[in-house]
Amino acid sequence: MSSLWAGSLKRPTAAVGLLLGVLVLAQCTPGEGEPQKKLAPVQPNRTSELANAMRQLDAELVVFRDRFLEGDKRWSEAAFTEYDLNDLAPTDSSMFVDGYTAYAMAFHKRVSDFNRAPGPETYTGVVSGCESCHQKACPGPLERIAKRQLPE
Ligand code: HEC
Repeated sequence: MSSLWAGSLKRPTAAVGLLLGVLVLAQCTPGEGEPQKKLAPVQPNRTSELANAMRQLDAELVVFRDRFLEGDKRWSEAAFTEYDLNDLAPTDSSMFVDGYTAYAMAFHKRVSDFNRAPGPETYTGVVSGCESCHQKACPGPLERIAKRQLPE
């Protein structure tokens, strides 16, 4: 993991992506509609386990996508971290929408498909797995996830 972060921080665009990731946080926290309050900067140990896993997965998408654009079309060494999304605590239980368990299981299958055979198709499968769950559970990051698609 440290090499992954170090690797992505070497690239300014990836670093900007990570910063944007931190900013997206507010979009999924409860209390929407309340007047905006000033919040302290994000503290890693106050972030939910689930949100942490999401940031890690998003960072992996960025790294793998960059490698693809640089010409590594088979991602020989690439593998996503395999989380059990059903076992990680979210910020708020309202995030467990109907069908959440099924989305999490479907997503896990897409991740293992990629890890078994990393390539453009299995990568695209992972990104659509992110999108399916987010369309239901937490639309905030969808715009960002769309940017993880490979170019046509
Ligand atoms: C099974 C449902 C599900 C799947 C699959 C899923 N997410 Fe999420 N994601 C969530 C939920 C729920 C949250 C809100 C977590 C919280 O705030 O505790 C979240 C939060 C996030 C966040 C905001 C994290 C933060 O800093 O607060 C990002 C970014 C994100 N997801 C990206 C992704 C990406 C990229 C993928 C695919 C690699 C993905 N998600 C797959 C449900 C999902």
